Amino acid sequence: GASAFIFDLDGVIVDTAKYHYLAWKKLANELGFEFTKEQNELFKGVSRKRCLEILLDIGGITATQEQFDRWMVEKNEDYLEYIEKMDASEILPDVPKVIGFLKDRNIPIALGSASKNARPILEKVKLLPSFDAIVDGNDVSKAKPDPEVFLIAARKLNVAPENCVVFEDAVAGIQAANNADMISIGIGDAQILSEADYNFNDFTEMSLAFLESLTSVQA
Ligand code: BG6
Ligand code: MG
Repeated sequence: GASAFIFDLDGVIVDTAKYHYLAWKKLANELGFEFTKEQNELFKGVSRKRCLEILLDIGGITATQEQFDRWMVEKNEDYLEYIEKMDASEILPDVPKVIGFLKDRNIPIALGSASKNARPILEKVKLLPSFDAIVDGNDVSKAKPDPEVFLIAARKLNVAPENCVVFEDAVAGIQAANNADMISIGIGDAQILSEADYNFNDFTEMSLAFLESLTSVQA
């Protein structure tokens, strides 16, 4: 049965996807073009560098290396301002219920995030001690949909990939979980996340009976 659970961070544990969006939108506006919520879907789960490449593509902008590096820094500084005041109230609904359920059963949990800001965010919302392993944007060389981030997490927990369940809000993240041979659970719009094995709008829709059933199935 599934013996470990891996959580994405942005958009799954905390609603930071909106802050990423605002920071990218600000940069786009400064560069003279619009950046929509629909376009932002492609940014979910994707590394900062890749996001900027896509953003510049959208704006039809060719950047020098120097400009590119400066915009990377600028976006992150704006993002850090948004997340500075974060606290536990920004944990998404019923996330503590799910984590509590797993902890009660001694089921190991890991974080599998593309973000280089994952640890400070977990600290701010007081969830850092809950995780048995953390794999983030500082640990990976291949971005989602590559399975690397989840495979490293599984290895750290000493659990076979096919016995891992992944919670994800990004298309690239669901693909990464599927590529890792893990059970993928989409958190968000089921139409957008149609490649997931299971779909929920959020954790409030996920029953403990369903979680229980996951601890005894295989991918
Ligand atoms: C992912 C987000 O979790 O982290 C992406 O879904 C983001 O939108 C990526 O670009 C990288 O985050 P950071 O914090 O390293 O810029
Ligand atoms: Mg995410």
